[in-house]
Amino acid sequence: MSFRQLLASAAVFAFAGVALAQTAKAPASQSTAAAPAAATSASAAPAADAEKQLLALQATPVKPGDAAAGQGKAAACGACHGMDGNSTDPQYPKLAGENEQYIVRQLMNFKSGVRVNSIMQGMVAPLSPQDMHDIGAYFASKRSLPGVSDQTLAVAGGKLYREGDAARGIPACMACHGPDGRGNPGAMYPQLAGEHADYVQKTLQAWHDGTVWGDEPHAQIMPAIAQRLDKSDIEAVASYVEGLHTAQPGESVSGPEAPAPAASAAKPAAAGTAPAPAASAATAGSNGKH
Ligand code: HEC
Ligand code: HEC
Repeated sequence: MSFRQLLASAAVFAFAGVALAQTAKAPASQSTAAAPAAATSASAAPAADAEKQLLALQATPVKPGDAAAGQGKAAACGACHGMDGNSTDPQYPKLAGENEQYIVRQLMNFKSGVRVNSIMQGMVAPLSPQDMHDIGAYFASKRSLPGVSDQTLAVAGGKLYREGDAARGIPACMACHGPDGRGNPGAMYPQLAGEHADYVQKTLQAWHDGTVWGDEPHAQIMPAIAQRLDKSDIEAVASYVEGLHTAQPGESVSGPEAPAPAASAAKPAAAGTAPAPAASAATAGSNGKH
């Protein structure tokens, strides 16, 4: 089982690109402890239906998203996600600045049922693929407000984010999500910068425990990575991304935000390229807090 999983992961990494070539030859020692992926095929018949529905949604012709039209259509979303996509309650992910392609992908995932969440299932029921694009364009036009990293976690989290851990087959998150967490719209890699640590932690833990958002190769990437993350990795990297700031050093942050505390919170981690002792202390000392 874990050997097959490993082959599958290696294939995913190869598929995902050269940045991950190192992970394919990494030793398997850690992943043998990962939870079995049996949960993925818990209900074969409904899953096949969901896949079919997803393909149909994805094949529906649409015009590029219209942010102005999307603003009105997004009114119902504001109660949880914030009117500008900066939710204040950490159980609701921030959508501000998230790329349109990723938002559309997730809305279609919810609508088809390949991603299961009862709240979102109700919210997407009335949305057409065009509505999804318009709403996606609206939130993509907003800027995510960064949170603040926990300093005791950010060093270990930042190291994992920027370097991964080759010995355990964990790729650098940065390779896909970008050095500043901005993501990559063309590849449908989501922005992570500023996302609530609680939500990130919950999502990574669910993948670690066997949740998968459908059958497509794209949807296997994160579960394969999250299987190799332990609880303290997840806690640390989640805290780090919450403090990530989408402006590059030297680039000015437009808009009213530019909050100095958050920017400086992320800095020690970004600057600390070799704090091995601190990193291992944080990793060892932080489990079961949540
Ligand atoms: C009652 C609260 C609520 C409302 C209203 C709501 N959502 Fe959500 N939304 C959630 C929750 C909770 C999640 C996290 C689901 C999960 O953990 O899988 C979520 C997740 C999402 C995600 C996935 C984000 C990611 O980073 O993967 C998108 C996209 C989204 N919602 C869009 C919308 C849109 C568009 C609307 C309006 C049409 C909307 N939501 C209305 C609660 C809500
Ligand atoms: C090979 C590219 C790749 C690498 C490397 C990668 N990710 Fe991802 N990540 C993705 C993709 C693709 C998705 C979207 C998954 C989907 O749509 O099914 C994603 C989604 C996520 C999400 C969900 C975001 C949301 O808004 O719901 C989190 C959290 C995340 N990744 C964290 C990480 C962390 C932490 C690492 C490093 C340990 C990492 N990723 C490494 C490709 C990658």
